[in-house]
Amino acid sequence: MNMPDIKKIKDEYLNKLDIDLNIESVNQIKTELFGKNGKISNSFKTLGSLPTDERKKFASDLNSIKDELQEKIDFKLQEIETKEINSKLENEKVDVTLPEREFSRGKIHPVSQVIDEISSIFSEIGFSVEEGPDIENEHNNFTALNTPDNHPARDMHDTFYLDNNKELLLRTHTSPVQVRTMLNGKPPFKIIAPGRTYRSDSDQTHSPMFHQVEGLHIDKDINMGHLKGCLNYFIKSFFEVDKIKMRFRPSHFPFTEPSAEVDIGYEMKDGKIVIGEGDKWLEILGCGMVHPNVLKNVKVNPDIYQGYAFGIGIDRLGMLKYGINDLRAFFESDYRWLNHFGFDPLDVPSNYRGLSR
Ligand code: PHE
Repeated sequence: MNMPDIKKIKDEYLNKLDIDLNIESVNQIKTELFGKNGKISNSFKTLGSLPTDERKKFASDLNSIKDELQEKIDFKLQEIETKEINSKLENEKVDVTLPEREFSRGKIHPVSQVIDEISSIFSEIGFSVEEGPDIENEHNNFTALNTPDNHPARDMHDTFYLDNNKELLLRTHTSPVQVRTMLNGKPPFKIIAPGRTYRSDSDQTHSPMFHQVEGLHIDKDINMGHLKGCLNYFIKSFFEVDKIKMRFRPSHFPFTEPSAEVDIGYEMKDGKIVIGEGDKWLEILGCGMVHPNVLKNVKVNPDIYQGYAFGIGIDRLGMLKYGINDLRAFFESDYRWLNHFGFDPLDVPSNYRGLSR
C-alpha cells in the first residue's frame, strides 16, 4: 500500500468519525483500523519490504496518521461518555422539594416481647434456650412423660390429633422438649423452652393456640428449694417488684412428683392489677420434681440425678404485666390493638409515625 492510499483511508475514517456514533460503532472502527488485520496494522507490516531510504519517511508518516486517528477515536469515546453522563443526570434528577415518603415500622407483638424478657431473665441464671417442633408424636408428648394410654390426662388436654392412629398431634404443652433435650444430651440439664402449644379450648382466658415456657433443671443435688428459689427470682424479675406473694398448691401432673401449681398474690388498684400485694391469687404455672419414670424413659439414672421442671403460661404473664384482659385479642392481628399493645423496636427513626393502617 502506498502513502496516497493510506491518506485516503485516513480521510475516509476521519469523516466516519465525524458523525454521531455510539460506543459500539466507534469500537468497530477501532478494530477495522488497529485490529489484528486492521488497515493501519497491515500497513505497518509492509514496512520491511521497502528500501531503507524510503522506509524511514514512510514509517514516520504512518505513525503520525496512526496518532491522528487514535486521537480522534479517543476524543469520540470521551464525547459519548460525557453525553451519557449528562443525559443520566438530566433524567435522574432528584426533586428535593417533594415531601418525604411516610415511613412505617411494625411493632413487636407482646408475646414476642414477653418471650424475650423471659429468656433473658433465665439466661442470667444459667439456663439455655431449647426449641422443639409444634407437631409432636404421642410418645414425646405423653408416653415418655409418664402419661400412658388411657390416662385421664390425655383427655384433660383436649388434644388436636393429626391422624386416625393418634400418633401425631399438635403438642399440648412444651414438656416434650424436656424429653427431646434429655434424649439428645447428657446431664446436667438446665434449659428453658418457650414455644407454641395447642388445645381444643377457647374463651376469654383460653385460646386453641397459646404459649408456654418449659423449664428443666436436672443435676446431682437439686431439690424443691431450688425450684422455689428459681421461680421466686423469676417472678420478681419479670414483674419488676422487690417482694412477691407466691403460694405452692399441691397438684398432680403425671411427669412430676410431688407436683404443685403456683399462684401469685395481687390486688386491684384503680382498675389495675398490682402484683405482690393484696389477698387475691392468680395461677400462673405448674411445676414439680421430675418423676423418676420420666428420667428412666430418657436414660437418665434417677438414683444419681434429679431435678425440677415447670411450665409457665406465657400469654397469661403478658396479660398480667401489660394489663391486657382478653387472651383472644393476642391472635386476632388487629392493627389498632397491635399499635396500642405492641412494643417499639430499639432504634426508632425520627420520621416514624406508627403503623400506617
Ligand atoms: N406441662 C404442664 C401443663 O402444660 C405444666 C408442667 C410443666 C407441670 C412441667 C409440671 C412440670 O399443664
